[in-house]
Amino acid sequence: MNVRETRASPARAWDRLPPGFWQGFLSGAFALAIIGGLLAFLLSPEILKHRSPFPLEEAIGQSRIDAAIDGSYKDRANPVAATPENIAAGRTIYNSNCAFCHGVTGQGEAQIGQNMFPKAANLREPETANKTDGQLFWILENGLSFVGMPAFKSSLSQDDLWKATLYIRQLQKGTAAAAPAATAGSAASATVSPAGTTAAAAPTSTTAAQAYAPTTAAARTSVATQAAPANTTAAAAANSGDLAKGVALFQQQGCTGCHGGDKATGGVGPALNNIQYPFAGLLKQVRSGGGVMPPYPAASLPDSDVMLIYNYLKSLQK
Ligand code: HEC
Ligand code: HEC
Repeated sequence: MNVRETRASPARAWDRLPPGFWQGFLSGAFALAIIGGLLAFLLSPEILKHRSPFPLEEAIGQSRIDAAIDGSYKDRANPVAATPENIAAGRTIYNSNCAFCHGVTGQGEAQIGQNMFPKAANLREPETANKTDGQLFWILENGLSFVGMPAFKSSLSQDDLWKATLYIRQLQKGTAAAAPAATAGSAASATVSPAGTTAAAAPTSTTAAQAYAPTTAAARTSVATQAAPANTTAAAAANSGDLAKGVALFQQQGCTGCHGGDKATGGVGPALNNIQYPFAGLLKQVRSGGGVMPPYPAASLPDSDVMLIYNYLKSLQK
């Protein structure tokens, strides 16, 4: 067919459109479709419902975290020395404030953290390991709004936040969570009942106490204050030393964070101040966990420590 004939035909008026019209129209429509699609996506309920990151979302999230951190924090060194006592204090702080989201081992394994979006970070991954102490401290102080990481500057002292930072470094080494029992025991002895200090821990603690007197003193006061109610309860009992160890373990293992503090009056988990079951019942629960409660293997919390916790909880019974 002849082109000129076609153009002459009145029925084909759209063929007489200016040159380039179709290109312009098509690329315009294409751009609109993309913008419309993006808008529909951003406004759609999917954005609030999705539970695994969209492509790029993770990378963008990390760069935004990096950008949010105040630059002046980057080179701040941790003023708290890595003494056994400071690490033990850091563990207590971590287990009662962080473990119910980031897990006792720091791998984000706690059920609450798993069910968040984004999930509570695995603190042992390179993203966190590669941040400086100062940057981690900034995150603990200010939180990360929009992702569910709370700010702790009004609930924990600077000293406590540096100790928590110190403890994150221990978790990253993978040794802290593997052997908390021994250190927890020595922490209980060092801070609550010095008389019960284990032979192995004694020399280190003493040296550490002498070398880092101010921080250690602070650690002592804070743990001693927390333990004060237990000591009062224990005053009347014959085995007050064991009750003090029991409450210290109850704190250090993070039980207080979920079960309503020293007095176990209930929180995320049920109140434990009036338990009616025998020791075996508590042991079974501690070993198997349940719901958001993590299982505590014997390697990290031996039966004898669970017994100390049991006796402490029984002493709360009215
Ligand atoms: C309510 C749950 C929750 C609690 C409690 C919590 N976190 Fe987080 N944390 C999160 C979430 C969610 C993120 C963000 C994860 C992401 O952006 O992928 C996060 C991020 C972090 C990060 C940044 C990880 C990185 O490198 O991007 C650090 C460090 C951290 N938390 C440490 C702590 C410490 C220490 C505590 C206790 C003092 C704590 N968190 C308490 C939920 C929590
Ligand atoms: C992350 C939060 C969390 C931590 C940490 C935690 N628990 Fe629990 N605990 C729970 C929840 C939630 C339940 C209820 C579980 C269920 O319904 O199966 C529970 C249940 C229990 C029960 C059974 C209570 C009952 O009357 O049925 C006992 C006993 C218990 N926890 C003891 C402990 C001890 C001891 C520790 C520390 C070694 C501890 N928990 C640490 C959250 C926690």
